[in-house]
Amino acid sequence: MIEKIRQTEAEFRSALDAASTAAAVDEVRVRFFGRKGGAVHALFSELKSVPPEKKKEVGEELNRMRDALEAELRAKLEALKAEEGARKERRSALDVTLPARMPRIGHLHPTTIVRREIEEIFREMGYSVEPGPEIENDWYNFGALNFTPEHPARDTQDTFYVGEDLLLRTHTSNVQIRFMETHKPPIKVLAPGRVFRRDEITLRRSPMFHQIEGLLVDRGIHFGHLKGTLEHFLRQIFSPDTKVRFRPSYFPFTEPSAEVDIQCSFCEGEGCGTCSQTGWMEILGCGMVHPQVLRNCGIDPEEWSGFAFGLGIDRVAMRKFGIPNIRVLFENDLRVLGQF
Ligand code: PHE
Repeated sequence: MIEKIRQTEAEFRSALDAASTAAAVDEVRVRFFGRKGGAVHALFSELKSVPPEKKKEVGEELNRMRDALEAELRAKLEALKAEEGARKERRSALDVTLPARMPRIGHLHPTTIVRREIEEIFREMGYSVEPGPEIENDWYNFGALNFTPEHPARDTQDTFYVGEDLLLRTHTSNVQIRFMETHKPPIKVLAPGRVFRRDEITLRRSPMFHQIEGLLVDRGIHFGHLKGTLEHFLRQIFSPDTKVRFRPSYFPFTEPSAEVDIQCSFCEGEGCGTCSQTGWMEILGCGMVHPQVLRNCGIDPEEWSGFAFGLGIDRVAMRKFGIPNIRVLFENDLRVLGQF
C-alpha cells in the first residue's frame, strides 16, 4: 500500500510537470483528486482493507501525500498565473530598444532650390523679393511694357486668355510696372513666379515655367552695370569657368536689349536635342529699361535710368542638376524628385 502511494505520488509529479497551462493543471487535479475515479480518492477508499496494525501508518502517509500534492497543485497554478501575467505585460510594454521608424520628410523641388539660390545672390547685392499676380490684364503684361497693339507676342498663339482683358502672364515683367507704379526710385527688386505661354512642349520648353524678373532703377545707370551684375550672378550660380555669351536682341520694353546663353552642358557645345543642335541654351533676356516704360509708370527718364532682366529658373535648374528634359521638373515623379 505504501508502495502504491509512492507510485501515485510519482505519477502525479510527472503529470504535473508536463502540464504547461492552467487547463492542463486542472486535468491533473481531476485525474488525481476527482471524487469519481480520482487516484488519490481511490487510495483513501482502499484504507478500509488495510490491516488494523498498519492503518495508522498508511493513514498518516496518505494524509501527508494528499497535503503535499494539493500544495504542489496550488503552487503550479500560481506559477502559471504569474508567468501569464508577465507575458501579457511584456507584450504591451514599450520596447525602447526598437529602432525608430523615420518619418518621411518632404524636401524642396529643384526649381525651388535654384530659385532660393538666385534670390540669395541678389539679396546680397541689396535686392528685395516682391510678389506679383499670375493673372494679369493686357496693360500690365503688354501695354505698359511698350508692346504695340499688333506686336506678335500678343498673338493668341502665345498667350492664354482667360477673359476679355484677362490673361495668364507670359512673363514676370508685369511686376516691373506694378512695382514702379507704386514705388519711387531708387528701386532694386527681384520678382520670381510662374509664367505661361501657348508653346509646344519640347525638351526645354513647357507651357508653364518659372522666371525671375530683376529691376534696378537709379541715377546714372548704364549697360555696364547690367553686364557687371549679370556676370557676377552667373559666376556665382554656375562656376566661374561656365561659358556664357551676350547676344544683341530686341524687347519692346528695353533698349538696348540682349539675351544671355550658357553653353549647353549636355553636349558641351557640340549640339544636341536639348539645345536644338545650337550648342547654347538661352537662359535670360535683359536690357536698359525703355524711357517710355519709365514714363508709363510716372518716372522721369531724364533723371532716372535702369536695367531689367528676366531669367528662366527651370533652365538654370536643368543646367545645374544635369536634367536634359524640362518635363522632368513638372511631372512630379517622386523617384526623380527624391534625388535632389
Ligand atoms: N520678359 C522677357 C521674356 O520673357 C525677358 C526680359 C525681362 C527681357 C526684362 C528684358 C528685360 O523673355
